[in-house]
Amino acid sequence: MRDNKIYIAGHLGMVGAETLQLFQSKGYSNIVTKPSDELDLRNQKAVTEFMDREQPEVVVLAAARVGGILANDQNPYQFLYDNLTIQSNVINAAHENEVEHLVFLGSSCIYPKHAPQPIKEEYLLTGSLEPTNQWYAIAKIAGIKLCEALNRQYGRNYVSLMPTNLYGPGDNFDLKTSHVVPAMIRKFHEAAENGQLPVALWGTGQPKREFLHVRDLAKAILFTVENRLKGDIYNVGTGKDISIKELANLIQKITGHHGEITWNTSKPDGTPRKLLDVSKLHSHGWRHNIELQDGLTKTYQWYLQNIKELKEVKL
Ligand SMILES: NC(=O)c1ccc[n+]([C@@H]2O[C@H](COP(=O)([O-])OP(=O)(O)OC[C@H]3O[C@@H](n4cnc5c(N)ncnc54)[C@H](OP(=O)(O)O)[C@@H]3O)[C@@H](O)[C@H]2O)c1
Repeated sequence: MRDNKIYIAGHLGMVGAETLQLFQSKGYSNIVTKPSDELDLRNQKAVTEFMDREQPEVVVLAAARVGGILANDQNPYQFLYDNLTIQSNVINAAHENEVEHLVFLGSSCIYPKHAPQPIKEEYLLTGSLEPTNQWYAIAKIAGIKLCEALNRQYGRNYVSLMPTNLYGPGDNFDLKTSHVVPAMIRKFHEAAENGQLPVALWGTGQPKREFLHVRDLAKAILFTVENRLKGDIYNVGTGKDISIKELANLIQKITGHHGEITWNTSKPDGTPRKLLDVSKLHSHGWRHNIELQDGLTKTYQWYLQNIKELKEVKL
């Protein structure tokens, strides 16, 4: 199995880089990658030619247009179009080249805004989506359905993993496009450095969210590949959530900020609670290892070590 040819799409992103590193550390030596400036996955012809030439046995699709609430809300077309084309091109080229196993990454935001908690896989398409990220969510749902249709019609083994909110090394700390954890780390760090200035955060702080360290997701991808896990969708998370206010207090402590925190309640809160039911993946034997406080502390250390080379995300 370790000499299986594996294509990791999006290997320079947070998930792709961690996955590549994990697979390499486990002795996988036949891994194919291509940066986006050499292979734009929105280009169907280029993707088809690449897949025809490389003939991987397994594909991990970790390339996508990804961002926080603000980026989603301001760039609906890119979030819908880029994700639809990237995933359609890669999934179809994999199918046409008889790739036996593919892991597609969805997201917990595909579930209905008011889904019962914790969210089970079967709640997909049982209610309306959170409007701010509907563009991204609809593209991801289409990706899940493409895999499901191939499994049903052609007997493929294309599995969609639905990770909860991720954080960790390699994250995007650009405040215009980042998710909540890297945004808070940067805000608290900079406020502490500049004389303990107040930190202004969006919303009421009341919504509850679940966070998974990206290393744990990489392990779930490895687990899926090594066990050739069957089935259409698996949630991936810790099964535990905390309020945004509690998260802010934790990050404030870790970064050594002692100033005031203000909450801008005119900004949207998003979905009130989002906790995944991870019992399906647990029943196969996968569990997360990294607890939030430890993961956040390590992520802050990574941020400090890489502060000069942080990526800028342009849309
Ligand atoms: N981050 C989270 O909290 C989270 C949560 C749940 C699910 N996920 C899912 O996990 C997957 C990976 O997310 P991530 O956080 O690792 O995102 P990321 O850090 O933004 O990485 C995305 C990768 O996709 C590549 N990419 C984007 N557009 C491309 C294109 N047109 N052609 C080729 N490559 C392209 C990027 O390459 P360039 O940098 O060169 O553009 C980058 O390497 C996504 O499917 C996402 O939906 C993420």
